[in-house]
Amino acid sequence: MNGQKTIIKLLNISKNFGNRKVLDNISLEVFAGETLVIIGRSGVGKSTILKHIAGLLAPDAGEVWVDGQELTRQKEAEVNELRKKMGVVFQYAALFDSLTVFENVAFRLLRDFRMPVAEAVEVVKKKLELVGLKDNLLDLKPAQLSGGMRKRVGLARAIAVDPEIILYDEPTSGLDPVSSEAINDLILEMQKKLGVTSVVVTHDMHSAYKVANRIAMIYDGKIIGTGTPEEIKQSQDPYIHQFVTGSVEGPMPVR
Ligand SMILES: Nc1ncnc2c1ncn2[C@@H]1O[C@H](COP(=O)(O)OP(=O)(O)OP(=O)(O)O)[C@@H](O)[C@H]1O
Ligand SMILES: [Mg+2]
Repeated sequence: MNGQKTIIKLLNISKNFGNRKVLDNISLEVFAGETLVIIGRSGVGKSTILKHIAGLLAPDAGEVWVDGQELTRQKEAEVNELRKKMGVVFQYAALFDSLTVFENVAFRLLRDFRMPVAEAVEVVKKKLELVGLKDNLLDLKPAQLSGGMRKRVGLARAIAVDPEIILYDEPTSGLDPVSSEAINDLILEMQKKLGVTSVVVTHDMHSAYKVANRIAMIYDGKIIGTGTPEEIKQSQDPYIHQFVTGSVEGPMPVR
């Protein structure tokens, strides 16, 4: 599936917010064509990692490599060029409330790729169909959609630009089981059909096992384990075991 070519590499990344050390010397590699799933409890820094890969946050120390370029050393224009290769599905969908579904999904096509509107309409219709939405939603505003539909619109927006890399932040949270499964299938399809490299942040272990080639778990600012779904499922590490089995018994405090 992959020739182990590294597409994303975090090297000794540290990040503080105020006096709180959220990422403590984290290193992580993502290979071309694979889906890496990041798991960990609320507040451990999963979204923070994705934002570093997306070039939306800069580390206090360390390096972020995407497609052979080190983001922190690039000028803004170059980071923007790299961003064109990435689609980001933000946690909570993060749509623009004042824009229509069409304007949301087409946003980067129009702004970054300067695509003519008529062409963008066709692309948007195709992407909406791909995420299981009808094109009669084009003129609706996010407030008129259900949570699940908003998530799908966020996904359509991320894939609108035909990215080589897709970053998914909790793509199935808050969705009913059937919609979650459809999103899992879509993540797999994007990988199989388009060969994209994906990083998926999730709490949903069913989803993690289904879409991951490898899973990395974060705890206390560090990556405490990385492995195939099977390895993670069988892990003897008490933290990983507690997390994946959702147990109150174990070294992690229940809060
Ligand atoms: N821009 C910011 N300014 C200050 N603190 C922040 C900022 N972004 C994140 N944090 C803090 O960093 C920590 C990690 O946040 P992050 O959103 O990465 O966690 P997470 O693992 O994605 O959590 P969740 O599963 O709840 O989404 C949290 O304590 C959060 O409050
Ligand atoms: Mg998060």
